[in-house]
Amino acid sequence: MLNYDNLMVMTHPLIQHKITLLRDKNTGSKQFRELVEEIAILIAFEATRDLPLCDAKVSTPICDTVSKVIDGKKLAIIPILRAGLGMVNGILSLMPSAKVGHVGLFRNEETLEPVKYYFKVPQEISSREVVVLDPMLATGGSAVAAIDFLKEAGAKDIKFLCIIAAPEGVRTLCEAHPDVKVYCGIVDEKLNENGYIVPGLGDAGDRIFGTK
Ligand code: PRP
Ligand code: URA
Repeated sequence: MLNYDNLMVMTHPLIQHKITLLRDKNTGSKQFRELVEEIAILIAFEATRDLPLCDAKVSTPICDTVSKVIDGKKLAIIPILRAGLGMVNGILSLMPSAKVGHVGLFRNEETLEPVKYYFKVPQEISSREVVVLDPMLATGGSAVAAIDFLKEAGAKDIKFLCIIAAPEGVRTLCEAHPDVKVYCGIVDEKLNENGYIVPGLGDAGDRIFGTK
């Protein structure tokens, strides 16, 4: 039983339905990319529920009034390369003024340890709300490392959004970074001996970019 204060597992039927389509090995790259974007939007909708609002004056065609606008810190979206890139456009369609940084990591296929090859984040990262994106949370090594690097760079207010997680990855991430809220489309059964999520969807990067 996964019971962490910082874990939010999505229950929305649309998310569950789209994840099933994503799992299907017959779903081609074009549809796969569209689904990743759509699911990212739906998870972001949940993950932005706590954004603070403030009052703003606005003139409608009828009268002047006071209405709500988001009074948040500025947002930074940080996809973990490669597969996290597939979620960026969906989030940007909701929050077009967000800045985008990148953390490049790949898993060593034997040790499953993350290897860093790129890191660039927007300026003033310490005063931004940071949303880290990766469709897959498997061992949790990549997510923990990415968040370690972001905290070293000054990030303080961090959320992590993923589509499919393994219980092992959820435990590792939620325990390593209890201050980070983790939003997850679904938690699957387990990892296999190669570190792949079961039943999962296979290799997310390969399916998004049509490699392999
Ligand atoms: C995948 C995925 C995550 C990571 C998850 O990336 O996109 O970043 O694996 O695994 P973990 O939780 O065990 O660290 P991968 O290393 O395959 O790189 P890629 O996106 O460049 O293909
Ligand atoms: N990365 C993926 O893309 N898929 C998995 O199942 C595990 C890690």
